[in-house]
Amino acid sequence: MPTVPEPIRAMVVLGTRPEAIKLAPVVRAMSADPRFEPVVVSTGQHREMLEQMLHLLEMKAAADLAVMRERQGLAELTGRLVDGLGRTIAESGPDLVVVQGDTTTAMCGALAASYQKVPVAHVEAGLRTGDLGNPFPEEINRQLIGRISRWHFAPTERSAGSLRSEGVPDERIAVTGNTVIDNLLWILPRGQGVPAFRTGLRRVLVTLHRRESQGAEMAAMAGSLRRLADRGDCELLLPLHKSPAVRESLLPVLDGHPRVTIVEPLGYADFAATLAACDLVLTDSGGVQEEAPSLGKPVLVLRATTERPEAVEAGTAKLIGTDAAVLYDEATRLLDDAAAYAAMANAVNPFGDGRAAERIIAALTHDHGFLPVGAPT
Ligand code: UD1
Ligand code: UDP
Repeated sequence: MPTVPEPIRAMVVLGTRPEAIKLAPVVRAMSADPRFEPVVVSTGQHREMLEQMLHLLEMKAAADLAVMRERQGLAELTGRLVDGLGRTIAESGPDLVVVQGDTTTAMCGALAASYQKVPVAHVEAGLRTGDLGNPFPEEINRQLIGRISRWHFAPTERSAGSLRSEGVPDERIAVTGNTVIDNLLWILPRGQGVPAFRTGLRRVLVTLHRRESQGAEMAAMAGSLRRLADRGDCELLLPLHKSPAVRESLLPVLDGHPRVTIVEPLGYADFAATLAACDLVLTDSGGVQEEAPSLGKPVLVLRATTERPEAVEAGTAKLIGTDAAVLYDEATRLLDDAAAYAAMANAVNPFGDGRAAERIIAALTHDHGFLPVGAPT
């Protein structure tokens, strides 16, 4: 009788909201495939925002390192993560470790796995701004992960090109699309979400959280958001990130305005429904920049740089920087100029077609002969 091969033990490391969202499709695909045995390890870099997502995405973590501290600094966070993940990987002995994106959890997961000589698969590989200070520390994290990963799952041809130009061999790269689109297309048809807007006015969805903008710059942007709300014809909805530094930057300026609706972080189904119901998105989020174009929503990207220029090139996103006056002017233009709005309101999918997880599994098993797993080189 032929022997059944042992399943591949894939440790999937995640710790923040976007990692849960973007790794859920990979975990689902691995769980449905007898060749894999996925083991989800949560670092708990986020607490409430992660628990909310794991529950909604029907994922259970086999271990939770519970590393989150209020106002955690990057060095202490990194120390706790490398130590905790190193022990977990050593005890569990996975065949490979899967990390996603550019968080400190992802960087430390890749580093800890490499220290244990366990090969790393990087989901959402090859995004680059080329500026180590922006976004900070994400650009540092993803460049480091790129150096030590064995398999690189690039969402687009452009991100694959960035990896090639850094010397990553072609056979280690697979262009898969972004798993965030898999998840969006999974959650929307379920129809479980409720849009969080409260008025019948025009609907502007705002999310802000980046470390490099926190403080005076973010407070100034909040001033412009308030001026937009003062117009009287639109409601600004702000699902507020849990970070105290974000709250201190935004709340003193925006709280109490009758047309600024401030809510706790929304569950994924509600957020997706809110995004689908909005007219305009103002955001510094990576994931939201990827989701909004799929739904034909114009996005003003409130950042100095973007590692996701595909949406800008497709015409549905505009990178406007973090200057408060520019934010006001650009948002006003889209609210007042129907032609400018229509030019950006195109449903395009530069980031994927909803089959990224499927391609990741295929690449890990067949296409590139990646498995059986060997030692990292
Ligand atoms: C982190 C990632 C960032 C990602 C973002 C997604 C790093 C360094 N940053 O940024 O790349 O875009 O997540 O949201 O990896 N907090 C809570 N409860 C939570 C989550 C956070 O109280 O559920 C508070 C804590 O005080 C924590 C602070 O927020 O110290 C900041 O969290 P942290 O994960 O360090 O950074 P983020 O700004 O969330
Ligand atoms: N999101 C959510 N609820 C919210 C705000 C965002 O579910 O209240 C989702 C959103 O759909 C996207 C992801 O969180 O998939 C983005 O996370 P975040 O902006 O925190 O991180 P980034 O993508 O910038 O790393």
